[in-house]
Amino acid sequence: MADLRQVRATNLSGPQDRRLQTGSTLELNARVRKRSELPVALTIAGSDSGAGAGIQADLKTFAALGVHGTSAITCVTAQNPKRVIGIEACSAKIVRAQIEAVFEELRPAAVKTGMLFSAEIIRAVARWFSRERRCPLIVDPVMIATSGAKLLEVNAITALTRDLFPLATLVTPNVPEAEALLGISIREPEQLRQAARTIHERFGCAALVKGGHLQNTSAAIDVFYNGEVELLLSSPRVLGVNTHGTGCSYSAAITAHLARGKKLERAVRLAKEFITRAIVTSRRVGKHDVLNQTAPPWQQT
Ligand SMILES: Nc1ncnc2c1ncn2[C@@H]1O[C@H](COP(=O)(O)OP(=O)(O)OP(=O)(O)O)[C@@H](O)[C@H]1O
Ligand SMILES: [Mg+2]
Repeated sequence: MADLRQVRATNLSGPQDRRLQTGSTLELNARVRKRSELPVALTIAGSDSGAGAGIQADLKTFAALGVHGTSAITCVTAQNPKRVIGIEACSAKIVRAQIEAVFEELRPAAVKTGMLFSAEIIRAVARWFSRERRCPLIVDPVMIATSGAKLLEVNAITALTRDLFPLATLVTPNVPEAEALLGISIREPEQLRQAARTIHERFGCAALVKGGHLQNTSAAIDVFYNGEVELLLSSPRVLGVNTHGTGCSYSAAITAHLARGKKLERAVRLAKEFITRAIVTSRRVGKHDVLNQTAPPWQQT
């Protein structure tokens, strides 16, 4: 590997040093350097111009966890941490073309979906994944932004549950999404357990129901259920922090760990540690909080 102490910046615009030095130690070392291999993950989601959530949060998470992140953008949103100002969907055709382009040369080892927005886009994604079972698929059923903006068209919920959920390795609804999907009300951690079981029974996929939106609990509790194993994932609730983008980063972390070859339950546990660390160490950007996906594991959670 090249020794970084040998890297020098040379000002070639000065009167001397007009010629480039070739055959230097650095050049020889750089030539024989062996490249390490990165697993690939794909996110199919919307762009968030404020970069707190969406594709931008997913790619930061993939990079932080040592995975090459690729993307298929489903829609462009004009938003900041406070509000969504506008949404323009991409055509299903170009969404499909992005997925094909990535699979053609990069072979993702795991895929996640985030904001899919329309029934047409959901069906295009489902058609692609139903052709053959390619790799683990994590479906984050993004419906409503933390700010309250609608991120999924009403008629798209049926397409999501009928066409995409049965293909998913795991679905990761938050409380309002689980309530909308199941037509129930969730107020207590015990009801998260029931929701995870019902999703598994009804749609045939594992479920991770996230309790971040539960009021009056001092812990941030999520429940995982896959038909055999039930996990209660709990962390202290961090107060006074804006959690925009936690759901995207959480499902991206699960996807990254799956791409790195971890089993689903282990990937979920590691991702819960990751997202807790990202919230605890979140930082200020202007008047807002942003998650710190790149906090090292030894940083206090
Ligand atoms: N204040 C908090 N302190 C600690 N953990 C939290 C907090 N809020 C949410 N979490 C955790 O963050 C993860 C994401 O859950 P959340 O319910 O926020 O998802 P979401 O609503 O989909 O997020 P998003 O706003 O990105 O859509 C879960 O593990 C949840 O328990
Ligand atoms: Mg979410």
